[in-house]
Amino acid sequence: MRILVTGARGMLASNLVPILREDCEVVAPAEDDLDITRRDIVFSVLEGTSPDVVVNCAAYTLVDKAEEERNKALLINGLGVQNIALACQDKGIRLCHISTDYVFDGTKSRPYTPFDNTNPINVYGESKLAGERYIEWIMNRFYIIRTSWLYGKAGNNFVATILRLVKEKPEIRVVRDQRGSPTNTVSLSHAIKKIISTGAYGIYHFTDKTEDGISWFDFAEEVVRMSGCKTKVIPITTAEFPRPARRPKNSVLDTALFSLATGLEPRDWKEALKEYLG
Ligand SMILES: NC(=O)c1ccc[n+]([C@@H]2O[C@H](COP(=O)([O-])OP(=O)(O)OC[C@H]3O[C@@H](n4cnc5c(N)ncnc54)[C@H](OP(=O)(O)O)[C@@H]3O)[C@@H](O)[C@H]2O)c1
Repeated sequence: MRILVTGARGMLASNLVPILREDCEVVAPAEDDLDITRRDIVFSVLEGTSPDVVVNCAAYTLVDKAEEERNKALLINGLGVQNIALACQDKGIRLCHISTDYVFDGTKSRPYTPFDNTNPINVYGESKLAGERYIEWIMNRFYIIRTSWLYGKAGNNFVATILRLVKEKPEIRVVRDQRGSPTNTVSLSHAIKKIISTGAYGIYHFTDKTEDGISWFDFAEEVVRMSGCKTKVIPITTAEFPRPARRPKNSVLDTALFSLATGLEPRDWKEALKEYLG
């Protein structure tokens, strides 16, 4: 199988490409060679490389900045994905696209299934939902994987931020009234590799495993504990830590359909975190 991965310099793609290369031929152009907002370039790169599958890791991911850069977010996460969907559909290529828990508003009290109503409460979520919709409108052989709270070696992420802060401060304040599931990019990379071999097209949720989610405070406490630091983690509310973009209170994703379709059970979030820190 030949796979083309977009957004090759990003956090997820940096883990995904070598994991796919263990068994597949992988083409991974950087943004300079494959700007997904350029329809002509997307068509010519897919024509020239003839992949069986495209995995789209390219995205605008600045959640707070998106509030002031709505058009940029919509262009990349909406119309950029439309370009990929049009080219893939035209050439009979399957698409695996990565989306987010932020397509939900967070008002549900239980984990979100792939069939729950979307209702983004920030611009980033809105732009990612636009990308999902274009795929659904244009294609008939696609996988959309929604994931959450990603962290990986090659990118700026919550774990890296906590590790930096604990070196600088005796105590840190972290929000306790938002729940979700952290996901190591290595776990997600194996999940992507598995789903694209199934032919079980559709929308799936994949995260590392938590019991009905954890808070950012719980996550930070575990990072501090595993890293052996003495820094005190103090719980605060979202209201005490205002950000430009609103966040869903609950964005725990139900991964049952992913496991049934692939036979792959998510690993425990603490095991995934330990691997990252090790
Ligand atoms: N990070 C999270 O917590 C999280 C949570 C849920 C879902 N996701 C989704 O997971 C996927 C991977 O995220 P990530 O954390 O790996 O993001 P990332 O590190 O920001 O990687 C995205 C990559 O896309 C590139 N890119 C931006 N505009 C592009 C364009 N027009 N054409 C081609 N490439 C472009 C970026 O390049 P530059 O950096 O040079 O702009 C970057 O290398 C995304 O779809 C994201 O929405 C992420």
